[in-house]
Amino acid sequence: MHKITVCEHPFIQHRLTILRDKSTPVHQFRLALRECGALMAYEMAKDHPTKTVRVQTPLEPANGLRIETPVVLIAILRAALGMVEGMAEFYPDARIGHLGMYRDPRTLQPVFYYSKLPADLNHHPIILADPMLATGGSIVAALDELKKFDCLTAVKIATLIAAPEGIARVREKYPDVPIYTAAVDRQLNEKGYILPGLGDAGDRQYGTA
Ligand code: PRP
Ligand code: URA
Repeated sequence: MHKITVCEHPFIQHRLTILRDKSTPVHQFRLALRECGALMAYEMAKDHPTKTVRVQTPLEPANGLRIETPVVLIAILRAALGMVEGMAEFYPDARIGHLGMYRDPRTLQPVFYYSKLPADLNHHPIILADPMLATGGSIVAALDELKKFDCLTAVKIATLIAAPEGIARVREKYPDVPIYTAAVDRQLNEKGYILPGLGDAGDRQYGTA
């Protein structure tokens, strides 16, 4: 089983606190979410495949490393949109897929409504992004979809706040998919919201509460 990585860098934690604060206005929420996405991408890229290349400096030849294999970023709609925008700042040539789903507020089960993914998924590192891992239903549904393309060994999950219940659910079905998060919170409430969490990430990002 792959362990969960909690990204404790102060730059990320500072922005996560802005996201948690209910007095944060929508424009600051969007900025902090985008920046968290960029910083998470930075933290997650430590083992990204590179190729040794030779370049000519103004003075002499030098060896360097280049990222050759473009990453595929996959955003679970809606809340991951801003996060993936931030990630793409470090991966300007990333291809970006979208999986549309929302939680039925009564059953808490994800309702799948859209899938648009790049071709050749199994030839690229893949980051599956969703800022909130609550019951785990949405991430599991996304992994079920990606499994059809035989690419699960290349997938890493990027989230910002994870609940223990959601981590357990993902782990039960997909024990080998690495999970990166900025925080593991205490628990879910009776409506499936993460405590202390940040509220509804999609609504706070788009001002639709
Ligand atoms: C939120 C969030 C995750 C999901 C997490 O989306 O962005 O996708 O809930 O919950 P889970 O782990 O219990 O599945 P939501 O359903 O609110 O849709 P939205 O982003 O369109 O608002
Ligand atoms: N989705 C959110 O946006 N927030 C939660 O706390 C749980 C699910």
